[in-house]
Amino acid sequence: MTQATEHPNWSNRWTFILAATGSAVGLGNIWKFPYITGEYGGGAFVLVYLACIALIGIPVMMAEITMGRRGQENPVDASLDLAKEAGQPPFWGIVGYAGVLAGLMILMFYSVVAGWVLEYVLQSASGNYMVANAEQIEANFGALTADFNRQLLWHSLFLIITLTVVALGVTKGIGKAVEILMPLLFVMLGILLVYSFINGDPAQAIAFMFQPDFSKLSGEAVLVAMGHAFFTLSLGMGAIMVYGSYMPRGASIAKTGLIVAGLDTLVALVAGLAVFPIVFANGLEPSAGPGLMFVTLPNAFAAMPGGAIFGTLFFALVAIAALSSAISLIEPGVAWLERRGIKRVVAVLGLGMLCWIGGIASIHNGDVFNFLDNFTAKYMLPLGGLLIAVFVGWVMSRNHVQAETQMNDSDMAKWFFTLRYIAPVGVLLVFLHSLGLFGG
Ligand code: PHE
Repeated sequence: MTQATEHPNWSNRWTFILAATGSAVGLGNIWKFPYITGEYGGGAFVLVYLACIALIGIPVMMAEITMGRRGQENPVDASLDLAKEAGQPPFWGIVGYAGVLAGLMILMFYSVVAGWVLEYVLQSASGNYMVANAEQIEANFGALTADFNRQLLWHSLFLIITLTVVALGVTKGIGKAVEILMPLLFVMLGILLVYSFINGDPAQAIAFMFQPDFSKLSGEAVLVAMGHAFFTLSLGMGAIMVYGSYMPRGASIAKTGLIVAGLDTLVALVAGLAVFPIVFANGLEPSAGPGLMFVTLPNAFAAMPGGAIFGTLFFALVAIAALSSAISLIEPGVAWLERRGIKRVVAVLGLGMLCWIGGIASIHNGDVFNFLDNFTAKYMLPLGGLLIAVFVGWVMSRNHVQAETQMNDSDMAKWFFTLRYIAPVGVLLVFLHSLGLFGG
């Protein structure tokens, strides 16, 4: 029976805000956002991304928190229980099952990239690239991604750290970790932004990021922007849902959802504004791809006064952000297995083993890496988000939803309108658009 054991709860809403922000802010903001913005041409891409955050991401985030807190369960049991409550078939459990799967699939490549980051913390601290020229720095990243054993080592280490935190449990592990990690992250990013504006080319960076050129916007770019909105907010796979289930009842779902989405967007924009001035000041390419952070930034750090220290700070910051996100990628699956009577440590080890093997496959074969990244961000998360929007907007009783969110009638009407119509139709339109069915 699902009511037998007690579901854990965080003592106050700040822990939820920190944990959810920790989940949202990660490699998506600092590694992925700048490089896909660079690849898809800058301003217009950023604009579509921001529109997706506002019109689809924020309503879906509130919906996920609502499902978690009302369900008081992991994503699988929350969707099953809430469907039952609404008199609907167990089909809706797919929201939870697909979410658990998506989280594991993401962690399989996420941990590899986080491993690269750990390598660069070490390289920065040891001053390795400080004496190298541009070609050597590029060759250096190429050498890392060609070195199976070194990547395996870092991937394994990152995964072990992640699994240890998750094994310690929701309050002792995750709650405590984010209380320390998140404030640290914000301070470091602030220092980097100032550093980059003083030493880089902020004017060109701002023009690149905020002057839209719609001729560069393909159907593919719109799909990537929408997928990234889900990815960066950790939506569509149950991470925010499972954290929502640990959220205390008194906290406002609308307010906390807005805070988390706002902080995440702020960090992405600040990360872009910290990265691109350095890129432009050094005549580097914004469209360098997944290597952007690893190839261009060391160049910039190497050329700048205090570069070794700032380089170390920067990569440490990224590693911290990646850790608090990785935790939330595996937590939905762990919470689900735990509910099925499996010990938390055993669940962590079992799922961790899957991610470890998947990571090895991604290291071994770049196509596996790309498939995991593309398939989850472009399809699984938006589809999961679509189902969540439909479930809360159309399937759950509106009275139950309002009781859980404690929204007044007018806020409720606005939110429900976006949730019922704009978010689902938006996701479908972007899918159709990317197939080139219209205007693409
Ligand atoms: N939001 C995280 C990031 O931007 C990635 C993530 C996706 C985490 C989905 C949890 C769930 O890096």
